[in-house]
Amino acid sequence: MKFLEVCKGKKFDVPPVWLMRQAGRYMPEYRELRKKHGMLELCTTPELAKEVTLMPIRRFGFDAAILFSDITIPYYGLGVKFEIKEGVGPVVEDPIRDLEDIKKMDDFSVVREIESVAEAVKLLKKELPVPLIGFVGAPFTLAAYLIEGKPSRDFKKTKAFMFKNPEAWNALMDKLTDATIKYAKEQIDSGADVMQVFDSWVGGLNERSYKEYVAPWMKRIFSSIKELPSIHFGTNTSHLLHLMKDVGADVTGVDWRISLREAYHRVKSPIQGNLDPAILFGTKEVIEREVQAIKEEASEIGAHIFNLGHGILPETPIESVEILLRAVRS
Ligand code: CP3
Repeated sequence: MKFLEVCKGKKFDVPPVWLMRQAGRYMPEYRELRKKHGMLELCTTPELAKEVTLMPIRRFGFDAAILFSDITIPYYGLGVKFEIKEGVGPVVEDPIRDLEDIKKMDDFSVVREIESVAEAVKLLKKELPVPLIGFVGAPFTLAAYLIEGKPSRDFKKTKAFMFKNPEAWNALMDKLTDATIKYAKEQIDSGADVMQVFDSWVGGLNERSYKEYVAPWMKRIFSSIKELPSIHFGTNTSHLLHLMKDVGADVTGVDWRISLREAYHRVKSPIQGNLDPAILFGTKEVIEREVQAIKEEASEIGAHIFNLGHGILPETPIESVEILLRAVRS
């Protein structure tokens, strides 16, 4: 299938297209289901996770499905207590302060919630007409929620922890890397076709910090999931793209702050992106113009998967997604 071929470096005039967060609150059928079920309940009930994953495929016919889940799910396997607060994001009950707290965490095990994700993947594989993208959060981004306790703008506590406490940081990264690999394997063994690794917040680091405090663990992850194509995504990462490329994913996801041309120059391998999600609040003419601009840039570079530069925003009009799809495929 086209999507899998692009991951391996093949170039098409009309790129495969899917959108990060394509299953979610901008869809009326999702909002309807959410009235009856909590977010984490949807993630850990296989039949419901399957239904939500299929919603955008049925409505729009994207070229790939992404499993409906969340990057926080492996916390269950580590015994971390957390919730997803509406309109806020992940909130951790007892944020990590030191090495003792890390030692108190369980080693990752396949608890019921993890099994239910594997089960959702198996159910989806029986019905899906397109490839299924499994996903995991990268250790830095998972560590950031564990240390901050909640979403953060500047990741001050995370960086303080990392710079002050290298021994504890290494122990935490080891633990989260082990969890990430085992959680990815559950999805791979159940039939996922591609693995996307979200390091959403790593762009707050500079090159030296990325090399020292993040890259070694990312290499371990990508070398452990070689069975299938992988996509590596973060935001605000223009200055890190060449280093992210080196840790071993097949495709690099880029946000909208950099042009595809410049991003390609930095990674020289398949690229996913990078329409600004806010463009979908614009007029039909603006959406068409911006999609066309990305297609023109893409025509000058190697393999390209069309996507947004970050998740679709909850208030996005359905019609805008239809306009985007027609423009990409024309
Ligand atoms: O892409 C998809 O359609 C699959 C589903 C998906 C979700 N979360 C569902 C979700 C994916 C791929 C994720 C990944 C995720 N989760 C990331 C990495 C991607 C990114 O956007 O950077 C991160 C950082 C998280 C953590 C998280 N979970 C956040 C920041 C939020 C949003 C908080 C809010 O309410 O705005 C969540 C909750 C969440 N995850 C929702 C969805 C659909 C909203 C849930 C709801 O209230 O219905």
